[in-house]
Amino acid sequence: MSVMSLLETRGLKKSYPQGKHSVEVLRGVDVTVDKGEFVAVVGPSGSGKTTFMQLVGGLDRPSAGSVRLAGEPIEALSDARLSAFRRQKLGFVFQFFHLLPTLTAEENVCLPRLLDGESYAKVAPAAARLLERVGLGARRHHRPDQLSGGEMQRVAIARALVSDPVLVLADEPTGNLDTKSGSIVLELFRDTVKERGQTVIMVTHDPRAAALADRVIRLRDGLVEPDDDREPAS
Ligand SMILES: Nc1ncnc2c1ncn2[C@@H]1O[C@H](COP(=O)(O)OP(=O)(O)OP(=O)(O)O)[C@@H](O)[C@H]1O
Ligand SMILES: [Mg+2]
Repeated sequence: MSVMSLLETRGLKKSYPQGKHSVEVLRGVDVTVDKGEFVAVVGPSGSGKTTFMQLVGGLDRPSAGSVRLAGEPIEALSDARLSAFRRQKLGFVFQFFHLLPTLTAEENVCLPRLLDGESYAKVAPAAARLLERVGLGARRHHRPDQLSGGEMQRVAIARALVSDPVLVLADEPTGNLDTKSGSIVLELFRDTVKERGQTVIMVTHDPRAAALADRVIRLRDGLVEPDDDREPAS
């Protein structure tokens, strides 16, 4: 095991009941990601990418196998400790943003830390800085319905970064953006996390997005495809 590895999954399996049988969606996934890496996860629709991200992020529990994140075997954490771990160590970017419609951009960005008990007065300056960083300084007080799709995407990215997470999990963060705003968002995202020494795992269908990553993990039928570019693990 590498000293620097931030994430290790071993024999990760997930099945869902299907009538009398079950469907095995992940069939033994072994992935290691080092601190500071920007990794893209690609694969055909239905290959298990979102399922993998949910297990890594502790949003769902595996049927078998283990996830070790920042030194913690997350299957050993209670639901309450796992929620706290998620809020403090992880940042999620979902395809459909999940912004709260009644809150402003700045309030949406603050939310993960408010839920963790910090005061608005303390968090707001950090949120404002991140919004500035993603080019939305002038849109801080807009609600989601007053923002474009690309702007909402950038708010969601700022929100994922506000807790200074060790790991950012992004599931098709450019899924509904045009090529140009997708590229702008991705470059901002990559530069921001590189500056902060964070680790990113990003699911994408977009070859240009995958090309920005340090490394690509390919899933097919619930397994990682061997990567020709890499030395086999010893
Ligand atoms: N809750 C569930 N119950 C039953 N089957 C599920 C459930 N969630 C996902 N699946 C199945 O697991 C498989 C993998 O789903 P997953 O969402 O991980 O795919 P994906 O690689 O993210 O695909 P896409 O690129 O379309 O987002 C699919 O065949 C899906 O039907
Ligand atoms: Mg998916």
